Amino acid sequence: MEIVLISDGPLALDSPVRKLPFFFPARLIDMSKVSESTVGDGRAAVVELLGATDAGLTALKSSWASIAEIPVICLASKKNRREVIQASALGKTEIMERDTPLALLVRKLKLILQDDPLAQVPNGLPAKTLEAYKKGNAFLESLALSAAEGSNIQTSLMNEGAAEILSALSLDGLSPWLDAVQSHHSGTYCHSLMVAGIAGSFAQHLGWSEKDCQEAIAGGLVHDIGKMRIPLTILDKADKLTDAERSIIDKHPVFGRDILKPRLELSVDIKKMAIQHHEFLDGSGYPDGLKGERISPKVRLMTICDIFTALTEKRAYKDGMPVRVAIGVMQEMGRKLDQAMLKKFAHMVLDRDMGEVIRPPQKVTRTQAV
Ligand SMILES: [Fe+2]
Ligand SMILES: [Fe+2]
Repeated sequence: MEIVLISDGPLALDSPVRKLPFFFPARLIDMSKVSESTVGDGRAAVVELLGATDAGLTALKSSWASIAEIPVICLASKKNRREVIQASALGKTEIMERDTPLALLVRKLKLILQDDPLAQVPNGLPAKTLEAYKKGNAFLESLALSAAEGSNIQTSLMNEGAAEILSALSLDGLSPWLDAVQSHHSGTYCHSLMVAGIAGSFAQHLGWSEKDCQEAIAGGLVHDIGKMRIPLTILDKADKLTDAERSIIDKHPVFGRDILKPRLELSVDIKKMAIQHHEFLDGSGYPDGLKGERISPKVRLMTICDIFTALTEKRAYKDGMPVRVAIGVMQEMGRKLDQAMLKKFAHMVLDRDMGEVIRPPQKVTRTQAV
């Protein structure tokens, strides 16, 4: 499922089109290069008219047939006569005001793509789990928008989602939750929802209070918020990442700090889980090389749940590792992880035979803790 973004030359800094690759797999094509082969299997097109030249538009019009079969949205400023004339000259396209709120543009594209994660959920899952999945997903969508727009995080949605997930875990257990969230087409959403469920179950297993269990779940939902600053074309890339792409992904805890630091509406514990979940007890982690006691129990829990999820989940570029193998890999990480906590975690996941939920691998091409 891809959106084709079309502009004349590089996108202007203030174009909302720049933000779409954080919500959808997308490709940017120069107006003069639009053709059957560059559009490929694109399912919708968004044309940015800001700064378009006559030559660019003439080229686009002559190759219009290659996008004529898919819905096209044209972003223009209705106050700018030139852009309005250009947009209507293009023919069959929906014109949207450039300063339309990003949420509306994203919703419109989701409708066009019929992007409803609930439609993909396997049959027969318990109602409570489905309700929790719906709420968790709604919060992640709002989180992506607040990361893109710098707006407040909707803590009421977060708390509602975390409470609902906790009661689904208590009532239905972890397996239906993992079944539901694994159907999500977005790798990052699926990963965050999985980490949230596993963190909630583990916190329960450790006998933490209800409030701490909910916070562990909320931490799981939020922990990779920094990835919402990384285009999906890099995050969900099926091939091996280049060094440059890898180093961009490794910046996500720092991006997370940038996004979360000014957000007073979020608790310090949740912020720490997001910013520090790649720190290791022996000081070899990132971004700050924190050591030992400076890493709180909630962060240690998040790190264990995150690495376990990253190893066992299936992605475009790799199959999932069996649970037992993943635990072995984590035991070999030695003093990087809280091994006493890991021992309890191993008991939890091995007792529940999560191997049935997380499918065995064919081959592992690339593994990474994300
Ligand atoms: Fe993660
Ligand atoms: Fe991460």
